[in-house]
Amino acid sequence: VCAVPVIAIDGPTASGKGTVAQRVANALGWAVLDSGALYRLTALACIDQGVAPDDESGAAKIAAGLDVRFVDGCIFMAGQDVTEAIRAENVGLFASQIAALGRVREALLGRQRAFRQLPGLVADGRDMGTVVFPDAPLKVFLVADVHARAQRRCKQLIEKGFPANLADLTRDLEARDARDQSRANAPLAAAPDAVTLDSSQLSIEETVNAVLDLWSNRGASGTHTG
Ligand code: CDP
Ligand code: CDP
Repeated sequence: VCAVPVIAIDGPTASGKGTVAQRVANALGWAVLDSGALYRLTALACIDQGVAPDDESGAAKIAAGLDVRFVDGCIFMAGQDVTEAIRAENVGLFASQIAALGRVREALLGRQRAFRQLPGLVADGRDMGTVVFPDAPLKVFLVADVHARAQRRCKQLIEKGFPANLADLTRDLEARDARDQSRANAPLAAAPDAVTLDSSQLSIEETVNAVLDLWSNRGASGTHTG
């Protein structure tokens, strides 16, 4: 039996995972999973319902019961379009707090694996290659230096109409990275068989092409750079 192929793209905040995953999926005609959106949706629902970020059973219950639909790049929760609302920086910070809770991660696991359908899936997040799809035939660990990431996120937030300043964002990104790397449950880390790609000096197109090259050349010797 041949498993449905998955390209796993993990890495720190604002390294370009989501943008690159979507374009790689478009190029291959595959589905895409934005796993971070599930944590952000859970966070938004917790905020709306007054569930505290350290209430593990409350947050896990919300995660298990998420009523979410992904339609043409838009995200609907309980029938409401929350595509933009989940991108607020406070929602990202709250998401990284509940993402440290084991029962929340467990509640979202099956939902993520259900995205794995023919002809293939490009999945981005923190633990796609380590926990959710450990058998993915290609794992990319996408990084970029913190200044490049803060600048990208700043521009992105301003374009979406959110307030943003570089100093606050740099501090928030560093706090979120530290929390994601140090947690006990599925910490942010490159899988042993992941290829690390540094996009600090790369355009989106160059990064997408690098991933597509890795996919075409998979199995050839020398692609495992650790
Ligand atoms: O998903 P993740 O948080 O890793 O990042 P993203 O939301 O895909 O990308 C953050 C921002 O960086 C977006 O506005 C991208 O267009 C931009 N970007 C870039 O300028 N250059 C790249 N090589 C990759 C992303
Ligand atoms: O776009 P950005 O990189 O800022 O964040 P995201 O991918 O939307 O994820 C938001 C938060 O969810 C992250 O800071 C992680 O704490 C958490 N997350 C996770 O724990 N595991 C994943 N597979 C995806 C996201």
